[in-house]
Amino acid sequence: MSNFTPTAADLKVPAYVKNPKLVQWVGEMAALCKPAAIHWCDGSDEEYRALCEQLVAAGTFIRLNADKRPNSFLARSAPSDVARVEDRTYICSQEREDAGPTNNWKAPDEMRATLQPLFDGCMAGRTMYVVPFSMGPLGSPIAHIGVELSDSPYVAVNMKIMTRMGQAVYDVLGEQGEFVPCVHTVGAPLQPGQKDVAWPCNDTKYIVHYPETREIWSYGSGYGGNALLGKKCFALRIASIMGHDEGWLAEHMLILGVTNPEGRKYHMAAAFPSACGKTNFSMLVPPAGFDGWKVTTVGDDIAWVKPQPDGSLRAINPEAGYFGVAPGTSYKTNPNCMRSLDKNVIFTNVALTDDGDVWWEGMEQDVEGKVLPAHLVDWQGKDWTPELAKATGAKAAHPNARFTVAAINNPALDEAWDDPAGVPIDAFIFGGRRSTTVPLVTEARNWTEGVYMAATMGSETTAAAAGQQGVVRRDPFAMLPFSGYHMGDYFQHWLSLGERLQAQGAKLPRIYTTNWFRKDAQGQFVWPGYGENMRVLKWMIDRLEGQVQGEQTLVGVAPRYEEINWKGVDFTPAQFQVATGIDAVVWREELASHAGWLAQFGSRLPQALEQARVDISARLDS
Ligand code: OXD
Ligand code: MN
Repeated sequence: MSNFTPTAADLKVPAYVKNPKLVQWVGEMAALCKPAAIHWCDGSDEEYRALCEQLVAAGTFIRLNADKRPNSFLARSAPSDVARVEDRTYICSQEREDAGPTNNWKAPDEMRATLQPLFDGCMAGRTMYVVPFSMGPLGSPIAHIGVELSDSPYVAVNMKIMTRMGQAVYDVLGEQGEFVPCVHTVGAPLQPGQKDVAWPCNDTKYIVHYPETREIWSYGSGYGGNALLGKKCFALRIASIMGHDEGWLAEHMLILGVTNPEGRKYHMAAAFPSACGKTNFSMLVPPAGFDGWKVTTVGDDIAWVKPQPDGSLRAINPEAGYFGVAPGTSYKTNPNCMRSLDKNVIFTNVALTDDGDVWWEGMEQDVEGKVLPAHLVDWQGKDWTPELAKATGAKAAHPNARFTVAAINNPALDEAWDDPAGVPIDAFIFGGRRSTTVPLVTEARNWTEGVYMAATMGSETTAAAAGQQGVVRRDPFAMLPFSGYHMGDYFQHWLSLGERLQAQGAKLPRIYTTNWFRKDAQGQFVWPGYGENMRVLKWMIDRLEGQVQGEQTLVGVAPRYEEINWKGVDFTPAQFQVATGIDAVVWREELASHAGWLAQFGSRLPQALEQARVDISARLDS
């Protein structure tokens, strides 16, 4: 590495950047990464347009048919760079114990020694983009600022959609403000005269977090959560640590508003593991039988929740856009999402139609007779036909193909989505994907029981053969890949927060557990579909309003059949029984499995959770 540290003049620092720490850091990183140029992003629409043009010229973007998808683009990634790389993701705390048994760990010195030669000269021949962003409404007391240095213009334009990005961030940052430094490179330096590829990346990948110094270093991938560092890396892993130290929560949760016909509005924050319909739930359209009900989206993926002086919890969505999975999305499963995608979208790894539009598996679901396009260009640029798909199973879109779109495109966007004060949280919802065992919905009797249910929630792997039980992967709080510190400490943080607020005399949000995925004896899902989740939401609100009693079960309070509004759907008491039944034999096995799962947290497992398990077991035996 050279000793040369560029001056502010060399760096061409814009006059509106007044934070000496930021300028110094950009200088150090420029000296390390050795880009050919530095571009300070101002976040303007002109800049976005120019970068998109540049990406089209470079072959990274294909401009879609302007009549069908105005101002929208398709990117195709390298086949080796299509998803988050959990096995390459590290929490490099000083002590191994602080990362816990569920994170990859390396000592910070060792990791720095590994990364140093990789980053030295990594941006040669490329432009380093300085991307200032606010996670959360600009200047909100719940928001925090980050700056990402990236050699990917694809990252710069995605960050413009996904965050509040640009010049205004520097006003909030001021001279002394704190920011989380995020360095990203695709790891593909260019030699003089070397021709670039459409999707540069490196087979070696590192997604690294230093919790003590709150830094993020990402090497070798240009895709999604590996590269858009505001999302999983900052808003979950680093923010969870900040929240732990400062007494708030950074959670893998959507936030929605529900307004009943009387005009009373409630806000719920809900955690579901990947592939459990989170985006669909956040954009829910109330079904027949729910006249006058309204569901609005505050966020689809992440919630930052901060306690207020009065003991209430207020939440913001730190993001400003959605980076959602396209396959499976249709006018039937999520009409609001489909409408969000009408214009101003960046698609990645979906298929291209012959008339310059996009397509993905599942889009045809709402079309009678399931007409498939006769020809497509697949996510790797190859010809695709339904005949080929039938013969070889070839997917036109990659299963993890994504759309990047601004929240303001969402027709169901909550009016308070950008409110710096956030929204008050009335309930937390934790959902798993289990074909058996976990009932449709229960309300925890108390905060500790709710934390216990969230700490033991899980999803079955979906590849299981029909009728066979899948393997359960526990995903506590849907945070398994996203907690930046020891999961046992994370559980304790939730318990402590509840205790503290209760000691203040605050009314805590209720905690619900849901499972839409129970199957009947024939292996069919018994719950009639995502849109029907409104019926469960209404029961929760009726509980909040004290209008229904429910009944006590092994794991909390559950609805009676007659407490749910079944108007507009045919759902019999027998089906309800399949969706909600609690089987003692199955639960004995389940609790034994919980014991095995929780044991790995050792001395950092809160005693209260071990006690909760003992209590549930005792109830089962009584
Ligand atoms: C996501 C995820 O992309 O959870 O939101 O993986
Ligand atoms: Mn997510």
